[in-house]
Amino acid sequence: MLKKVQKLIADVEVFKTTSRDEIEAFRIKYLGSKGLLKELFNEFKTVDASMKKDVGQALNNLRNTTSTKVQELNDSLENAQEIKNFYGDLTRPSEPIELGSRHPISIVRNRIIEVFSKIGFTVSEGPEIEDDWHNFTALNLPEYHPARDMQDTFFIEKDPDLLLRTHTSSVQVRYMENNEPPIRTISPGRVFRNEDISSRSHCIFHQVEGLYIDTDVSFADLKQTLLYFTKEMFGKSKIRLRPSYFPFTEPSAEVDIYWGLETEIDYKITKGTGWLEIMGCGMVDPNVLKNANIDPEKYTGYAFGMGIERIAMLLYQIPDIRMFYENDVRFLEQFKSII
Ligand code: PHE
Repeated sequence: MLKKVQKLIADVEVFKTTSRDEIEAFRIKYLGSKGLLKELFNEFKTVDASMKKDVGQALNNLRNTTSTKVQELNDSLENAQEIKNFYGDLTRPSEPIELGSRHPISIVRNRIIEVFSKIGFTVSEGPEIEDDWHNFTALNLPEYHPARDMQDTFFIEKDPDLLLRTHTSSVQVRYMENNEPPIRTISPGRVFRNEDISSRSHCIFHQVEGLYIDTDVSFADLKQTLLYFTKEMFGKSKIRLRPSYFPFTEPSAEVDIYWGLETEIDYKITKGTGWLEIMGCGMVDPNVLKNANIDPEKYTGYAFGMGIERIAMLLYQIPDIRMFYENDVRFLEQFKSII
């Protein structure tokens, strides 16, 4: 009999279920008024006196183990119910998560960085609050130079001048001061100009400027790089360079791409010419190299600069520059599919 009881104890110990009915059936089977324990206690009366102590202990053990088991099973069932009430049905499908979208300015900036990084340009950044030296003087724009009027400036302090940078060329000066040629870097960033706000211009906008300095860099290198960029960025393979003026480059040029005249929109954005101006460029003026402690006898370089908003407006046909800064979700949501 002892063996039988011990076997039952082992059975009870391994018993498992999560069903209320099965727990109840288990309880009745062992502890019920006609259950196994009742039967066993009856049988116990016939057990030989020498075995009574051991079998009695085993029976008590079986009864205790069984009632503890029933208690445990009921408790865990209640716990599960509580969790369910608290969290709801854990097996139901989750709520869809709203996907955000990148701002169109970030999309275009990242794309420009990607295109130039493929040909070895690194990304450099600098402060938005600049001193006069890095924003103007080092770039061949001494005080009282009339070309300073090209970029209406927000001043923060006078003498010594502290201002909001008007272009990211200031980052390039910093880069030249701290790095030896060969230099191949682009500087994306926010710039500020004291201009009236309209659908075409804003007092805050973004630029990417590029700088390449090495021995024997020529205007042909510049043109080839720009051609590569317009092909990758716009899928257009015709550009033209028109002579222009920037104080920090000589010679200087404006870059136009041939956009085409296939649609009415093409007519509108190119004013019927098919050509679109997208950036300024030129060979770095020897004075600028000298100001940044680079020997202009040994090194030459080119630079270019473009406005990110302008390019984003072209690519996505955005009619008003102010839309970039209003953060209207109906506008921003339209860029969800672009990474
Ligand atoms: N810094 C110029 C601007 O802000 C752009 C430019 C950069 C032009 C480099 C030529 C060379 O308009």
